[in-house]
Amino acid sequence: MKIFLADTTATQKLGITVGQSLNAGNVILLEGDLGAGKTTLVQGIGEGLGITDLIVSPTFTLINEYTQGRLPLYHLDLYRLEPNEVAALNLETYWEGIEVTPGIVAIEWAERMPYKPESYLSVRLTYGHENTRQVEITPHNCAISEEIASMRM
Ligand SMILES: Nc1ncnc2c1ncn2[C@@H]1O[C@H](COP(=O)(O)OP(=O)(O)O)[C@@H](O)[C@H]1O
Ligand SMILES: [Mg+2]
Repeated sequence: MKIFLADTTATQKLGITVGQSLNAGNVILLEGDLGAGKTTLVQGIGEGLGITDLIVSPTFTLINEYTQGRLPLYHLDLYRLEPNEVAALNLETYWEGIEVTPGIVAIEWAERMPYKPESYLSVRLTYGHENTRQVEITPHNCAISEEIASMRM
């Protein structure tokens, strides 16, 4: 399913819609070049979850946790890691919600993951001309909400 994103605001709005429709344990795997809008989309997701803290890229911190919203948001960025380093992180801890409160897991640079969860939303952002972007959302063993589906091109 593809959605056209005319500008930064459109990406944030899509994120809000996604954030409002997610359930505990949902995983969003984000792919796309630097500046494609992955963090922007996660900022919208945070807003949709009711998080008022500023969501910043966890490029250096690896993971940022936000707990003030409807559900916890675990925001990861694997940009600086090799797949074997990613494997050592035991990311399943987050999506299985075993040692943490079950919440939403959003992972930037999911290309770096040597293994993936059983179910997740794949989100691929690509550049268009000027400030436009296109996003392709593919559900893997999960449903896509009506609200998101209605935004398709
Ligand atoms: N349609 C758009 N969607 C998302 N970001 C956009 C768009 N147009 C311009 N931008 C700008 O591009 C940059 C995207 O940065 P960011 O979301 O951090 O990307 P990434 O996390 O993929 O590296 C921001 O400065 C944002 O304002
Ligand atoms: Mg980013």
